[in-house]
Amino acid sequence: MTVDTRNTIRFLLNHRPVELSSVSPVQTLLDFLRLDRNLRGTKEGCAEGDCGACTVLVGRLLDGRLKYETVNACIRFVGSLDGCHVVTVDCLATSGGPLHPVQQAMVDTHASQCGFCTPGFVMSLYGLWMENPKPSVTEIEKALQGNLCRCTGYAAIIRAAEAISTIGDLGRDPLVLEREAIGQKLAALKDGKRVVIGEGAERFVLPATVDDLAEIYEAEPAARIVAGSTDVGLWVTKLMRNISPVVHLGHLDELRRITVDEAGITLGAGVSYTESFPVITGHFPQLTELWNRIGGEQVRNMGTIGGNIANGSPIGDTPPALIALGASVVLRKGKQQRIVPLESFFIEYGKQDRHPGEFVEAVRIPFLNENARYAVYKITKRLDEDISAVCGAFHLTFDANGKVAGAVIAYGGMAGTPKRAENAEAALNGAEWNEATIEAAMDALGADYTPLTDWRASADYRLLVAKNLLRRFYLETQGAEPVRLDRKIKLAV
Ligand SMILES: Cc1cc2nc3c(=O)[nH]c(=O)nc-3n(C[C@H](O)[C@H](O)[C@H](O)COP(=O)(O)OP(=O)(O)OC[C@H]3O[C@@H](n4cnc5c(N)ncnc54)[C@H](O)[C@@H]3O)c2cc1C
Ligand code: FES
Ligand code: FES
Repeated sequence: MTVDTRNTIRFLLNHRPVELSSVSPVQTLLDFLRLDRNLRGTKEGCAEGDCGACTVLVGRLLDGRLKYETVNACIRFVGSLDGCHVVTVDCLATSGGPLHPVQQAMVDTHASQCGFCTPGFVMSLYGLWMENPKPSVTEIEKALQGNLCRCTGYAAIIRAAEAISTIGDLGRDPLVLEREAIGQKLAALKDGKRVVIGEGAERFVLPATVDDLAEIYEAEPAARIVAGSTDVGLWVTKLMRNISPVVHLGHLDELRRITVDEAGITLGAGVSYTESFPVITGHFPQLTELWNRIGGEQVRNMGTIGGNIANGSPIGDTPPALIALGASVVLRKGKQQRIVPLESFFIEYGKQDRHPGEFVEAVRIPFLNENARYAVYKITKRLDEDISAVCGAFHLTFDANGKVAGAVIAYGGMAGTPKRAENAEAALNGAEWNEATIEAAMDALGADYTPLTDWRASADYRLLVAKNLLRRFYLETQGAEPVRLDRKIKLAV
């Protein structure tokens, strides 16, 4: 296959076009802004996607529509911005001019003390305001899950979020007024070419199509595929790993496709958590809390389902939930596709059923039967933006007599891979759905797992939690009020 190639990265930065013919495959957007462009408004707090001090907006065209999303500049690679519009806090107000309504709201409500976190909060609130000018407190809290403030506290910041529309008119915001013009500029940057920056091992490649990706990756299986870089970014900023050459999925709209048919939902591997939220929670409302508690908004905007699966982490959140649903993963190498059940994709810690040169193309998720009961519970040390200590997913069907006809139970955090609880399932299958059966299944979990002790949780705690989650699932099927974690803070403070 012959594909036209371009050797520059082109994007818009605030009001200016940028064209780079030389950029390290792992240069972060944050370093580029602060060190190369002297745009110091965007701060570095953690350099691992956690604190939100580096939040910027990235606008991109998807199906012809320009959409801005918050991202963590500290773990986003510059090369991934080809064809995008990067908006930083530095362009919100002109020197000597009025503050932007979001900034003014922060001032009016005394929402900043030391100010280190403030640019990040401003950008997160700006992103929220553009999508939703009159957000509820719950919506504000969701938008701010990925922003940490150690001194002001959140009540004043939430009041700022509520005040923005009383200060400014979204219809007169520059990004709204210039939307069409910016969209046209971005469309002009989309030339459908393969982008290659650098040479030899120090290369950053943006394949033009999925077929192009398949060809590139088959020929060079040692290259590192990068999607949202919410895992890989940390290997660079924290572990100083050299991950070049990089093959980035950012141009592959085909991998962002979501299809729904009678069989279920097919998510392209490049679909982000944010993009999948409406369809996933529309068909599986039981997954709403889990999806809302994966990372913060910036991580959900960047991170992909394909990345969560391919990374193979034992504490990734989607694998247990999707294994319990009977999902399968579509793998592609060259022109060949193969489909494997998600549960058998994870072989052992750090090892997945993926051949050299093979990538994750999609995940297929079947719908639940009418009489099925399904639930997923995530247990973490703190409510927001925390990785699971244990994640339990439960999917049961019942026969006409109310006996268990089929049990699929999967846990994350209990073994070296996301793993089914075969002994507990055996204790349930064919049994009456009652207290005695649940006790037996809880006991059987001890034979299913020998969890580790680490800084997230001890082995004993993990096993106890796993058992109690199974009991919780049982109690909820018996009409017990589901436990909902109340995140509302008291604004009167
Ligand atoms: C602050 C923070 C909070 C987080 N919170 C959570 C959380 O609550 N729950 C959770 O589960 N995870 C969490 N994560 C981890 C991360 O967001 C997810 O694992 C995410 O889904 C990874 O997707 P990505 O697109 O960013 O992958 P990347 O980082 O781009 O890649 C991850 C791995 O997958 C490979 N890969 C990516 N796409 C493909 C593909 N299509 N085919 C083959 N290989 C591929 C890469 O080569 C790499 O090995 C968090 C991360 C951060 C930084
Ligand atoms: S610097 Fe903390 S999220 Fe980027
Ligand atoms: S104002 Fe100091 S960290 Fe938020």
